[in-house]
Amino acid sequence: MIRTPLTDLLGCTVPIQQAPMGTVSSPLLAVAVAEAGGIGSINTLGLAREVIRQRLDHMRGQTDGVLAVSFLTDDIDADAVADAASRVPIVDFFWSTPRPDLVDLAHRGGALVNWQVGSAAEARAAVEAGADMVSAQGVEAGGHCRGDSPLLPLLCQVLDAVDVPVLAAGGIADARGVAAALAAGASGVRMGTRFIATEESAAHPDYVAAILAAGANSTRITDAFNACPLCEVSPRARVLVSAIEAVEAIGVDVVGTMKGTDGETSVPRRSWLPPTRNISGHIEAMAMYAGESAALVDTVVPAAQLVRSLADGAEARLASVRRSCGAR
Ligand SMILES: Cc1cc2nc3c(=O)[nH]c(=O)nc-3n(C[C@H](O)[C@H](O)[C@H](O)COP(=O)(O)O)c2cc1C
Repeated sequence: MIRTPLTDLLGCTVPIQQAPMGTVSSPLLAVAVAEAGGIGSINTLGLAREVIRQRLDHMRGQTDGVLAVSFLTDDIDADAVADAASRVPIVDFFWSTPRPDLVDLAHRGGALVNWQVGSAAEARAAVEAGADMVSAQGVEAGGHCRGDSPLLPLLCQVLDAVDVPVLAAGGIADARGVAAALAAGASGVRMGTRFIATEESAAHPDYVAAILAAGANSTRITDAFNACPLCEVSPRARVLVSAIEAVEAIGVDVVGTMKGTDGETSVPRRSWLPPTRNISGHIEAMAMYAGESAALVDTVVPAAQLVRSLADGAEARLASVRRSCGAR
């Protein structure tokens, strides 16, 4: 078992957070990860307060593991944060300037706060605002990219800048990456793209297939999917190049249909919505967010199996490095 300041703080057994990933990170996925000893996360963007509450109560009925709930942008319902904080151990913020009032709200509800940042200055601001941990997001990361720095130099700068547990995010998809981040001083890792190819992910099968097919340099930061609340602030997200080329080439205003509890809605061209199982249409031209780590993803596995193999593999690799370095 790998023990770090993060596992000590949260009481989890694996220092791996499955990143919140918009509509891709299903409650099923988050629960599976939490049950396996990691941190399972869901996102709240576009969800009504009552829906968030019901979803969390249902998830809490399925696991006592560590769950996180993510809030994006400055347009945040304070009551929803309070609801989330009273139900899960971590409230997660991203894509807004760190705010002491939001951190305070989460703390008063009984949760710890993780703020994902893209620079050392932002990490410092998050900790000054009261965050209990930060996720340092390198520019290799899938989805919306906050900063410009590759993970390793950013991680080192953030570790120097703050004295709370730091999670490393971006470009990590296997046990080698987990071990490397921990060896550099991270207390945990936050992985998104790898979890798209799990049995519990809500990603559309064509999206999963595109991730499996992706090789080196298959992703790019783009503003092509700018019908998006995050892109109103800063239009930059890392997406598969194939999807960027397809959306530029397609000659329609509506690329698909999404089935929901209230019936069907149209998916406009350039929508921020990633293709999930309840969406049909031109999947190839939708927002297939993915990090450079997609090049390392070549199997679909149950999430619990993935968490266990990452943890066991990283532990073995760290032990082997310790032995080989000690032998010199
Ligand atoms: C499909 C997808 C959706 C994402 N959506 C969110 C989100 O809703 N909230 C968030 O904080 N981060 C989001 N991210 C970014 C992750 O938090 C994290 O920084 C990233 O996944 C790490 O890089 P990796 O994809 O190489 O593992 C998303 C990433 C992906 C791949």
